[in-house]
Amino acid sequence: MTGFHQRVFSGVQPTGNLTLGNYLGAIKRFVAMQAEMDCIYCVVDLHAITLPQDPADLIASTRAVTAAFLASGIDPKAHIVFNQSRVPQHAELGWVFNCIARLGWLNRMTQFKDKAGKNAEAASVGLYAYPNLMAADMMVYRATHVPVGEDQKQHIELTRDIAQKFNNDYSTRIAALGLGHEMRVGDETVNAFFPLIEPVIGGPAARVMSLRDGTKKMSKSDPSDMSRINLTDDADTIAKKVRKAVSDPLPLPETVDGLKDRPEADNLVGIYAALADVTKDAVLAEFGGAQFSAFKPALADLAVQKIEPISAEMRRITADPAYVDGVLKDGGERAGAIAEETMKAVKQIVGLLG
Ligand code: AMP
Ligand code: TRP
Repeated sequence: MTGFHQRVFSGVQPTGNLTLGNYLGAIKRFVAMQAEMDCIYCVVDLHAITLPQDPADLIASTRAVTAAFLASGIDPKAHIVFNQSRVPQHAELGWVFNCIARLGWLNRMTQFKDKAGKNAEAASVGLYAYPNLMAADMMVYRATHVPVGEDQKQHIELTRDIAQKFNNDYSTRIAALGLGHEMRVGDETVNAFFPLIEPVIGGPAARVMSLRDGTKKMSKSDPSDMSRINLTDDADTIAKKVRKAVSDPLPLPETVDGLKDRPEADNLVGIYAALADVTKDAVLAEFGGAQFSAFKPALADLAVQKIEPISAEMRRITADPAYVDGVLKDGGERAGAIAEETMKAVKQIVGLLG
């Protein structure tokens, strides 16, 4: 009995354009984690259909998100890139988790409440069970680390609760079959089948906000295109959106404390910091005392410098769908081999013949 293999899993939905929030909160950090552990990055098409999708658009978006992964520097040979629906074990383990998670747990999920809106009765059952499938995504690889934006924190906590309940409910059987790994829980060492995955959230862009309203998340689904920078925007569009971003009339403060109660200023400084790979303090050491009229052009230049090469590379990769599909197929096969092992063990543990 030894510890778990350290492994990263994360997913992005193929729904609409990717934003600067997706890039800074997630994809840029996926790239960084490749140096540390084996990584599996997934385009979660089964999650996308929890809301209505046009089939042709869904296929195009699946390829576009894959292209964004590759253009950002994810290495599909050293690591794994694939789309979720290719590996049926996600849905299979998702069903087992539907039987582990409690209604009370899912009823607390704020993303469901946000997405279902006022008429929750009309939401799909899939939208409700979404977090269980998400837990299965990570646990079918027994992943130990998940880089995500702040908005996914509650789903990761639920994943840990599901893993822990499975480990507890089946502890005798896991031990008898010799399928467990050693895991530290507080001061104790336990025999577990699923790891308690660690969220990797943080840095200056864990929550990138709308350019029109510093209290709202930057989102693919915001009706105003001026609220976000898309990874596909050209240089002029990026510069215009930064120039027109809502700010406030004060100069930038000298320290991070001065950003309190200034959500727009905090957001723009955070975006600059994340793009430049420095802290907000370092940005304010340079720009403290400056007006937005001076800061915004610097931010626009930096955003163009960092995002343009990615969108150019995305266009180049998207022009070759056969290459993209090849990456997904190869990744799906390698992911499938790991998922199959896990699912075989889960069936033995739970008592499912076959
Ligand atoms: P989604 O597009 O909802 O599939 O999100 C993919 C990843 O991007 C997740 O890890 C999200 O947490 C992250 N993300 C999405 N929007 C933002 C944002 N505005 N700020 C930071 N991270 C974000
Ligand atoms: N729910 C995530 C989002 O909307 C996407 C996702 C699905 C995911 N499965 C995952 C993220 C597994 C991390 C790990 O952003």
